[in-house]
Amino acid sequence: MAGLIRIEVMHGVNLDMLGKREPEHYGTLTLDELERQIEGFASGLGVETRFFHSNFEGEYVEHLHSLRELVDGVVLNPGAWTHYAWAIHDALATAALPAVEVHLSDVKAREPWRQLSVIEDLCIASVSGKGIEGYRLALERLRDELGGKEQKDAAPGPSEAGEGAV
Ligand code: DQA
Repeated sequence: MAGLIRIEVMHGVNLDMLGKREPEHYGTLTLDELERQIEGFASGLGVETRFFHSNFEGEYVEHLHSLRELVDGVVLNPGAWTHYAWAIHDALATAALPAVEVHLSDVKAREPWRQLSVIEDLCIASVSGKGIEGYRLALERLRDELGGKEQKDAAPGPSEAGEGAV
């Protein structure tokens, strides 16, 4: 892995309505403002972010299909799809990338139907109820995961190290 760690941040259904929708759950920032905040977190952590939003499940799935060669990890907030969209589960499995799930609200403390996440088993971490700070935590978790991998990739393997190598 060369250069900055590249992380795709994928917003799902209804997240384009941030700022106008249920501020008691999702805060008052618009999606654009949220993305600027995430960029700030990313530069502080030394990672690179790209953003994607769709209200169409098929587009979200196709975007996941396209990511494999483009980024090193993915942060997902699929909105309500989180709770039932098994096609997104399967597309994330196909992407085969380290993933962290983020929810602005505390989904485990809300209605029973929000308590299932169909992507949780594919994610190295899930962050919910921490508002925008959740995105910083997610980027940090991925940076730690992928930074470790980078160091492993760079370390000489047993055959390269040779006898007496320190
Ligand atoms: C959400 C929680 C979901 O249950 C809801 O449908 C959303 C937003 C969150 O960020 O808290 O659209 O993912």
